[in-house]
Amino acid sequence: MSSVAEIRTLTTPQELFEAAAEVVVRTANAAVEQSGRFTIALSGGSTPKSLFHLLATNARTSLPWDRTFFFWGDERHVPPTDPESNYRMADEAMLSKIPVAAANVFRVPAENPDAGAAAEAYEQMLRKFFALSPGQMPRFDLILLGMGPDGHTASLFPGTAALAEKSRLVVANWVEKFKTHRITFTLPVLNAAGCVAFLVSGTDKAPALKAVLEGDAPGEQYPSKLVEPTEGKLLWLVDRAAASELSSGN
Ligand code: 6PG
Repeated sequence: MSSVAEIRTLTTPQELFEAAAEVVVRTANAAVEQSGRFTIALSGGSTPKSLFHLLATNARTSLPWDRTFFFWGDERHVPPTDPESNYRMADEAMLSKIPVAAANVFRVPAENPDAGAAAEAYEQMLRKFFALSPGQMPRFDLILLGMGPDGHTASLFPGTAALAEKSRLVVANWVEKFKTHRITFTLPVLNAAGCVAFLVSGTDKAPALKAVLEGDAPGEQYPSKLVEPTEGKLLWLVDRAAASELSSGN
């Protein structure tokens, strides 16, 4: 693991979300001070919902919303109105409650029936926003990630094709167990970030967390292991339940 991971264990899920909100506020204000803007990629699933709620309430006045630009690390292949949509979850929990311009929100066009075309379109959005030259990767100030009980992150699932991608920024990744494509950032994008923060809560995640942080199984089996920012910070915010099998006694 090239970047030294900081692992912080919080006693309860609520403390985990409060710690995560502090990380978002701190990173946002530092980024705006340094470059005039804050670029964040949101994670999906259920875990970040309470964080988004906190950012839209308690932390609402501490964030430079007008200088904040939102992206998604992955999306389900569904329209933004679908209950499965990561965009919809973030919109309901946070975006619809904060003073952010629609022009600052870059969602995955996952309503496109062609998942490959949706991924390509999102890649072009990133290339344009970050004014990338060929071969260059975007440097997000902060990428939020979750982890599944199988060790997947974003929509980089064990044994899937996207794990081998070296040059694309966004791909449509076929996930056999769900019989669907997911649109996901690739590892080069995750590993080019200034800071990657994993939020992991619950006992169902404990075996995978142990395998990722302490095990010697290959990354193809536990893709969260492959997240190693080359010139960035790697932060694991986990609650006591998720950390329950760590021998480090975190
Ligand atoms: C998604 C996510 C995915 C998620 C994990 C954990 O679209 O589902 O981006 O990577 O973070 O599956 O999900 P939970 O937070 O629901 O456990």
